[in-house]
Amino acid sequence: MEFDELLKKRRSIRKFNDKPVEIEKLIKVIDSAQMAPSAMNQQSWYFVLVTNLAIIEDLSMLMENVHNAFYGANNIILLFYKEDNFEPIVDTSLATSYMMFEACNLGLGTCWINGIKHILNNPKFHLLKEKMGVSKEYKCLGSLAIGYPDIKEVEIKPRKKDYFTIIK
Ligand SMILES: Cc1cc2nc3c(=O)[nH]c(=O)nc-3n(C[C@H](O)[C@H](O)[C@H](O)COP(=O)(O)O)c2cc1C
Repeated sequence: MEFDELLKKRRSIRKFNDKPVEIEKLIKVIDSAQMAPSAMNQQSWYFVLVTNLAIIEDLSMLMENVHNAFYGANNIILLFYKEDNFEPIVDTSLATSYMMFEACNLGLGTCWINGIKHILNNPKFHLLKEKMGVSKEYKCLGSLAIGYPDIKEVEIKPRKKDYFTIIK
C-alpha cells in the first residue's frame, strides 16, 4: 500500500469480526515497533500479546465491568514502558503508532484502548502483571485491540484546521 493511502486508511476500528488472525501477522505487527525511533535509542517499550479470549474477557470485565471493552477484538497488545527511561511514554507511543500502521498495511484494524492501564498500574493487580512476565520497572500505557475489521470503510473524523505555523 502506498504510504499516503496508509495514512488515510488507518483509522480506529471499533468493530471486529471473529476471524482468527494469523500469528505471523500479529508478530509482524509487533516487530514493526522495533523500527521506531526512541530517545537515546532506549527502546523503552515492552509488549504483551494476548490471544486468549477468556483472558481478554477477564481484562474487559476488570476494566469497566463490561463485556467487550475491546470491541470484540480477538487479540490485544498490552503496551508497557520502562518508567525510568528518558522519554518512555513518547518512545512507546511512537512504537505503537508503527504497530497501528503495520496492522493496517496487513488488512487488520486497531484501536487504542486506554482504560486497562488503570488496572495494570494498580498495585492491587501487581500479581497479574508479574504473571504476564512484565518486570516491575515497566508501567502500562494502554492497549491495542487488534483483529479483522467488521466494517468496510471508517470515515476520517474531523481534523482541526489551525494546527501549524510557518516561520520564514
Ligand atoms: C492515547 C490514546 C488513547 C485512546 N483511548 C481510546 C479508548 O480508550 N477507546 C477508544 O475507543 N478509542 C481510543 N483512542 C482512539 C481515539 O479516539 C482516535 O484515535 C481518535 O478519535 C481519532 O480517530 P482515528 O484514530 O480514527 O483517526 C485513543 C487514542 C489515543 C492516541
